[in-house]
Amino acid sequence: MSDANDERIISSDVESSDEEAIEMSLRPQLLNQYIGQSDIKSELQVYIQAAKQREESLDHVLLYGPPGLGKTTLAMVIANEMEVNIRTTSGPAIDKPGDLLSILNELQPGDVLFIDEIHRLPKIVEEMLYSAMEDFFVDIIVGQGPGAHPVHFPLPPFTLIGATTQAGALSAPLRDRFGIVAHMKYYTPEELDNIVKRTADIFKITISDDAAYEVALRSRGTPRIANRLLKRIRDFAQVSTKDGVDVEIVRYALNLLKVDNLGLDDTDIKLLKTMIEYYDGGPVGLNTLAANIGEETDTIAEMYEPYLMQIGLLKRTARGRMVTAKGYEHLGYPEKS
Ligand SMILES: Nc1ncnc2c1ncn2[C@@H]1O[C@H](COP(=O)(O)OP(=O)(O)OP(=O)(O)O)[C@@H](O)[C@H]1O
Ligand SMILES: [Mg+2]
Repeated sequence: MSDANDERIISSDVESSDEEAIEMSLRPQLLNQYIGQSDIKSELQVYIQAAKQREESLDHVLLYGPPGLGKTTLAMVIANEMEVNIRTTSGPAIDKPGDLLSILNELQPGDVLFIDEIHRLPKIVEEMLYSAMEDFFVDIIVGQGPGAHPVHFPLPPFTLIGATTQAGALSAPLRDRFGIVAHMKYYTPEELDNIVKRTADIFKITISDDAAYEVALRSRGTPRIANRLLKRIRDFAQVSTKDGVDVEIVRYALNLLKVDNLGLDDTDIKLLKTMIEYYDGGPVGLNTLAANIGEETDTIAEMYEPYLMQIGLLKRTARGRMVTAKGYEHLGYPEKS
């Protein structure tokens, strides 16, 4: 990710250790405190209850969806609900099979191993996971040359929770070993409204109903962004003479922060404008677009496009990306003839 993105208010990536600490304090602990994702929650409720009744470990869970939608939070909630420990790591952090073995070896029966960015596991580590997930053992080769021999390591039963922003980047054998696959969706304004109010409570901010809803509408369907916007808005409220946050403060702050009424920022606008002005609204290829606006292709594909498509301003076609009629309208261009 480029430096420019790290400063963006609507970036859905965690930006600093300070933000990480705040996120920890905002994380719901139990399923019934976790707002939204209702299909996933009701399914999990059943599997968790059943696993607990049988005194077995929960099936492996794959969580996928755009950044900031609550994957890490949900993994922690699952471990809490199962009343087990959670060990957290990430794909790129596990270089060698030996690293994985030592992590697995330290787990207590039933524990959760959370691997973030699981699509970035080295292949050789991923292959070791197959038998670990399926039958709770790993075979490793000990020694070198003629003295090398396989050693069979039994493991405690555990639950692997994998998180990824790119389900397509996961190999089929790995994907197939997850019993529970949860596709996280963007949150509705109503759900985000609840999240904003919950966060305001924790921050001890008074916020009016219409102000909370305005934040919800401009948060790109993403709890992390809602919380971040609220944190900035709190500063504006603090230096104003009003008590609490009202809708004028929200609009004032978000206009200064260049977050528009659909939650779009400068880069979204630049992306759509470039397509309209230079490519007649498309179709245009991802690489061409990325080069034109000076962003990386992955950043566009993972962070910008999903939301622009979700709200219907952009569509992907076999020939490339296209701006929709709604996109033309939102940017104030006459409809494409
Ligand atoms: N369902 C929810 N209810 C309340 N708050 C939530 C919910 N989901 C996420 N949050 C808040 O949003 C923040 C970001 O969530 P989280 O870190 O779990 O996202 P993520 O999907 O793991 O992101 P990434 O892909 O960047 O790892 C959390 O600190 C939490 O406070
Ligand atoms: Mg996460």
